[in-house]
Amino acid sequence: MAARLATVRSSARRQFAPEQAASPWWRDAVVYQVYLRSFADANGDGIGDLAGLRARLPYLNWLGVDALWINPHYPSGGADGGYDISDYRAVDPDYGDVADLEALVEDARALGLKVLLDVVPNHTSDQHPWFQAALADPDCPEASRYHFAPPSEEPPNNWRSLFGGPAWSRTPDGRWYLHLFAPEQPDLNWRDPAVAEDFERTLRFWLDRGVSGFRIDVAYGLFKDPGLRDNPGEYSPTLFGHGPEQAMTWNQPEVHDVWRRWRSIVDEYPDTMLVGEVCLADPEEIALYSRPDEMHQAFSFRLLKSGWSAESFADGVRSALDAFGKVGAPVSWVLGNHDKDRQVTRFGGGEVGDARARAAALLMLSLPGSAYVYAGDELGLPQAVVPDEAKRDPIFFRSGGERSGRDGCRVPMPWNATPGVGFSPRGSAQPWLPIPAEWRRYAVSRQARDDSSMLHLYRRALAVRAEHPALGAGEASVSRRGELLTVRSTAEGRSVRCVVNMGEHTVLVRTAGTLLLSSAPQVAHTARRTLALPPNTAVWIAED
Ligand code: NOJ
Ligand code: CA
Repeated sequence: MAARLATVRSSARRQFAPEQAASPWWRDAVVYQVYLRSFADANGDGIGDLAGLRARLPYLNWLGVDALWINPHYPSGGADGGYDISDYRAVDPDYGDVADLEALVEDARALGLKVLLDVVPNHTSDQHPWFQAALADPDCPEASRYHFAPPSEEPPNNWRSLFGGPAWSRTPDGRWYLHLFAPEQPDLNWRDPAVAEDFERTLRFWLDRGVSGFRIDVAYGLFKDPGLRDNPGEYSPTLFGHGPEQAMTWNQPEVHDVWRRWRSIVDEYPDTMLVGEVCLADPEEIALYSRPDEMHQAFSFRLLKSGWSAESFADGVRSALDAFGKVGAPVSWVLGNHDKDRQVTRFGGGEVGDARARAAALLMLSLPGSAYVYAGDELGLPQAVVPDEAKRDPIFFRSGGERSGRDGCRVPMPWNATPGVGFSPRGSAQPWLPIPAEWRRYAVSRQARDDSSMLHLYRRALAVRAEHPALGAGEASVSRRGELLTVRSTAEGRSVRCVVNMGEHTVLVRTAGTLLLSSAPQVAHTARRTLALPPNTAVWIAED
């Protein structure tokens, strides 16, 4: 296997020169993340589906995003929101079929929108035919595609599941098997070449159906320490990502060869890209995944994990720009996703949280690189309170209720101000997660009529960003004075300053330029070309 991968590496290695000529679309794309199950339900079973998403494409076009990433759409055991896949080359009947996906891609293309799929190579579902075969016969070829260990008193090592509890469970015949997530998500053994071969088939299957690339789940996983040695320490979910304390489980050097191979495959298809989920503490280690012959992008989660503090935001922006700059890759900024509490709530909730989420959006959308917007963040949805009996997230169950889980950021979208908020057709089944009654006020239809809404702020920001060369591209420098954060971006000789007041007092800002956009409607220039910037507010100023 090592020899095979080494050959692949040398043949796939490309020149380490930044992409020049016409900049590829993904470098500064705004990608909208669709949590399929919660986006729009066309057939009335209370579950979002591909036909529902397809019918809402004009909304995404109106909003002004460039692409969408769809959370897993595959047949699944249903243990982890679709991240436990039982068939990688099919569509879960809850969502439609392959023809629906093809129709979606075609309609999206007609509107100028690219479609990215989620691919999950670290683990399968326990319902996957390989795992089922391995359960039935320990000596079958499929068994070596997972990590099994013979029956013994104690598990093979001290590894913990990220969802709580040990990372090893027993099969009915007493063997141990590894699962870094839920027990229903056995980890694949990437040292077996059959695993790599099957994923290559999967990539081509979807690329041949016109998708523009993939978001890669747990891209820092796949390979494990060959001796499965104990980890030196314990991971804490409060860290920015995994570090040396988890050295045996994550970030093994061999994984980079997989991304080189995948890069060479997607390179056969024009205008496609790969973006990886790489949850490591060190931004320089993350950036290595987006070297020119590996993935095009690796998410930068620092803003997603930062509290409301100019120091933390400045540090997050600076460290990502430095690290990705060294490998010539754009930063892929993320403020929200399906794994983290909604921004409005994270930043304090209520009016303050709302104002901060608006300001944070302007900051993210001003930065060079691509930006990922999680469905519902453009509406300012707060974290929903989901009653325990309605919860689905394995984190809640595996932590014995100690961690509340991620259901509150996965509640269906409110489309209109009717009692069912227009997620399903009238008279349908109940939505798969309960939608709070007060969410009518966040409905798309309502916000579309209100020029001061969060939705209009996003739409305006995307329109200005599409026009101005310095927004989303070029060079940026970060400065901070107390709680006042400034990012100055320059491209084609033009500069924009994004100034964010993260403190508690209004600050006077010298403008010397044109106010392009403000996150709070009341901000305006004073006569003397200074601007009074209230707390929790951001502005974009184009320099003269
Ligand atoms: C990361 C995904 O974003 C998350 O939702 C999932 O639970 C884990 N990977 C495991 O696949
Ligand atoms: Ca449905």
